Amino acid sequence: MGAPNSAAVTAANWPYPRHIAHRGAGKLAPENTLAAFRLGASFGYRMFEFDVKLSADGKPVLMHDATLDRTTSGAGRVDALNLCELAQLDAGAWHSPGYAGEPVPTLAAIARYTQANGLYSNIEIKPVPGRETQTGAAVALDAQSLWRGAAVPPLLSSFSEEALAAARDAVPELPRALLVDVLPPDWLARAQALGCVALDANYRVLDAQVIAAAHAAGLKVLSYTVNEPERAAQLLGWGLDGLITDAVDAIAPAG
Ligand code: G3P
Ligand code: MG
Repeated sequence: MGAPNSAAVTAANWPYPRHIAHRGAGKLAPENTLAAFRLGASFGYRMFEFDVKLSADGKPVLMHDATLDRTTSGAGRVDALNLCELAQLDAGAWHSPGYAGEPVPTLAAIARYTQANGLYSNIEIKPVPGRETQTGAAVALDAQSLWRGAAVPPLLSSFSEEALAAARDAVPELPRALLVDVLPPDWLARAQALGCVALDANYRVLDAQVIAAAHAAGLKVLSYTVNEPERAAQLLGWGLDGLITDAVDAIAPAG
């Protein structure tokens, strides 16, 4: 059992806040850094979505892209460097001078920060191409260990069904959400086959009917990346359970 003090997360026992900060604080701070989490928390956000992949030596780190070029001082594939090498990189200077020197966080650092501050986590498993199974299993096992004894476990999500299957096989009790950018006709069967508790969809493919169908099947519904307050209100009015946003300064978290 991975998190012995946690009650199982189900649609009927859903512990997560409705508002979720995307990559920490969206675009206001360097994405997927601890600095971004701190800024998101300063706007009242209590749950955070972030992207995790593996270093060359198999350690989970926060990084969106498969390569280091856009968001760090490094270059090339993330999984070409080991954890010690990734620790030398600057993951903040690209954003603005005030964040220069910000490191690439490990999943362990984020686990400590979020739990110490009573914050909730949505770990998006985002493997570099070709490492789907390894990443899904490694992230789930690390999350199991890092959140052991936590009142609420992290929600795992992924666009990679291979990664979700590996996470399920490694640590079945950690809750999972199927991420989709377009809605396949068999979305419900896919989510159910992976034992998911939620569908996490691009807001452009959601409407009241899809949300109602998911609810009727016992799934919660999350959506990304909703940055317009009017659209956020519409989605929440349709019964959306989790709204992932960059606009932490424009969309006030509640509930
Ligand atoms: O997890 C939802 C969202 O983050 C998926 O898109 O590209 O921002 O990781 P992306
Ligand atoms: Mg993401």
